[in-house]
Amino acid sequence: MILSRIDALRLALHEHNRRYYVEDAPSISDGEFDALLSELQELEASHPEAFDPNSPTQRVGGTVVKNFEAIVHKRPMLSLSNTYNAEEVVEFVERAQAASDEDLTWSAELKYDGVAISLWYENRQLVRALTRGDGLRGDDVSVNIRTITSIPLTLPSDAPDELEVRGEVIYHQAQFDALNARREEEGQDRFANPRNAASGTLKMQDSAEVARRGLSACMYAVFSEDRPFGGHPEAVKAIERWGFPVPKRNQRWIQTCHNVADIQDFLAYWDRERQHLPFMIDGAVIKVESTAMQSRLGSTAKSPRWAVAYKFNAEKALTPLKEVIYQVGRTGAITPVAVLEPVWLSGTMVKRASIHNADQIEKLNLHLGDFVWVEKGGEIIPKITMVEFSQRPQHASRVNFVSQCPDCGSALERREGEVQHFCPNTYGCAPQVKGRIEHFIHRKAMDVEGIGSETVDQLVDLGIVQRPADLYDLTYEQWGQLDKFKDKSIQNAMDGLNRSKSIPFERVLFAMGIRHVGETVAKKLAKHYESMEALATASQESLENVGDIGPMIAQSVLEYFTELVNLHEMNRLKLHGLQMVYHLAEGASNLLGGQTFVVSGVFNHFTRDGIKLAVEQNGGRIASSVTGKTNFLLAGEGVGPSKRTKAESLGVTWLTEEEFRTWIGYTE
Ligand code: IVH
Repeated sequence: MILSRIDALRLALHEHNRRYYVEDAPSISDGEFDALLSELQELEASHPEAFDPNSPTQRVGGTVVKNFEAIVHKRPMLSLSNTYNAEEVVEFVERAQAASDEDLTWSAELKYDGVAISLWYENRQLVRALTRGDGLRGDDVSVNIRTITSIPLTLPSDAPDELEVRGEVIYHQAQFDALNARREEEGQDRFANPRNAASGTLKMQDSAEVARRGLSACMYAVFSEDRPFGGHPEAVKAIERWGFPVPKRNQRWIQTCHNVADIQDFLAYWDRERQHLPFMIDGAVIKVESTAMQSRLGSTAKSPRWAVAYKFNAEKALTPLKEVIYQVGRTGAITPVAVLEPVWLSGTMVKRASIHNADQIEKLNLHLGDFVWVEKGGEIIPKITMVEFSQRPQHASRVNFVSQCPDCGSALERREGEVQHFCPNTYGCAPQVKGRIEHFIHRKAMDVEGIGSETVDQLVDLGIVQRPADLYDLTYEQWGQLDKFKDKSIQNAMDGLNRSKSIPFERVLFAMGIRHVGETVAKKLAKHYESMEALATASQESLENVGDIGPMIAQSVLEYFTELVNLHEMNRLKLHGLQMVYHLAEGASNLLGGQTFVVSGVFNHFTRDGIKLAVEQNGGRIASSVTGKTNFLLAGEGVGPSKRTKAESLGVTWLTEEEFRTWIGYTE
């Protein structure tokens, strides 16, 4: 009785989900939906035997995945060959048409800029969701995919027993902006673009966080052995009926074309209109519609012969330059930033562009009031690529790089061989002081929760914090001087600082913000010297002998530790109980101590990144190509032929996955 109530609730909730997220036409209120969901949650809690990974309750996530298992795709996930101009599209159309006696029709559709995903259903239940991976094997991210509300977990009874649906997981601009705003507030780096954000989100270990982030999906390919579809449009229509999110035909996201002119019209339309879409696309895809013709044309090793991608030119916009302002970084580096008349570009309003350094200003020959071309690369901040000289206003004045720090007024310096200007007032210039503290508490450094950048601003402005060690001296009363700081926020900040005392030495070293010592270098130095004291007394020669540490980094480390203020700061941090000695991480060893490995092929028990991590955690080093310095070629299935020959000719030892597992003591 109770079990059938569970079934009934699951069915009803799946249907309401579909109406809400796919059809955008809910038939019950949010409150009613929540009531049904809580009833189901309660019943499931008291009937663990009725667990179902596809229950609507699983949408909220909550499972923590340590490693995503690599699984072989039923059919390889190919990529598309690219075309960049009209002629290439015509060539593709003619080539495909030449292979057919009948007039072909073409599906022109958007090329979603997200993460490709393959969904596999058995008996109308979602059994697994794989990323593309290397095309042959992808990561099983099912737990995270189940949190995407528009993806059906169960299919209606007229769907086939076995079905594969492929498509793209994407971020809508609104969710992407909200995510970045939240990250900024929490002191985390912004995602450069929605694609990176989608890919990062799908690989998260905590599915509850994935659920909160609001990913979307759009499906564009269907495979089913037991249900042949006449053509691509029929297949898309069928999956739409089964509850999948598909491209909207009435919005022209997908269109049937009868000839080259139709296709070109579609491409021109979206080249113009793409900035009004609620998500990012990076081009269009043209496909042969007939399924029979698709199989006749077949595929090369890399891509199908029945489809091509068409890439739009990078989006550009022309807008006037209002002024150039100068930002001071935590190292004192001065970066010029262009303030622009706001303009739309790839779905966002652009107000600023980076200009990098003084040389760039010269090279662009920038004048105030100039109309400049801005383009977005992979970065968040767009860049100026060119000045439109034909539109330069009369008597426009040249942009001259500042000679004094815009914040503290110190005369700027530019060292021999460096492209950037620096403000030398390291301890008296507010943005540098604040920047160093923000870097120190950053998630990747000391990960101090409870303190954000606004808090840092206040602490520095009040004059009670000048350097990181000061944070640990703050009393309850001093915290109380801050705006909006009450018992709870004070406690959070103090707890956050206390917790940071267990952050490992390599991150303490990174947090100190020595120039040129990023995360990776900090790890190398920590491993090599094993303590702050040993590092602080190392000579230039000794530093340069650490693998991958060049003279520039060595010099910077040396300079840092010759300054008394820094030695004093380090001592204070030590007295506060921060980790100043290197400990091997849990599960780590030095079994492979100092040996260099090249990893190639596909593995059964590890993803490519996973096996590299295992090498490093056990003291080994990873190199990307086989050279005289390589000790082992760690070979999975399908090692690249050039790596194989090179390894053989250099006498590099061949190590199988099993041998490797035995070596590092994996038993299960
Ligand atoms: S069809 C056999 N249709 O583009 C290839 N792909 O560069 C089937 N993509 O890996 C792919 N939008 O991730 C197809 N409407 C669309 C697409 C699309 C985006 C992605 C897909 C593919 C990549 C190839």
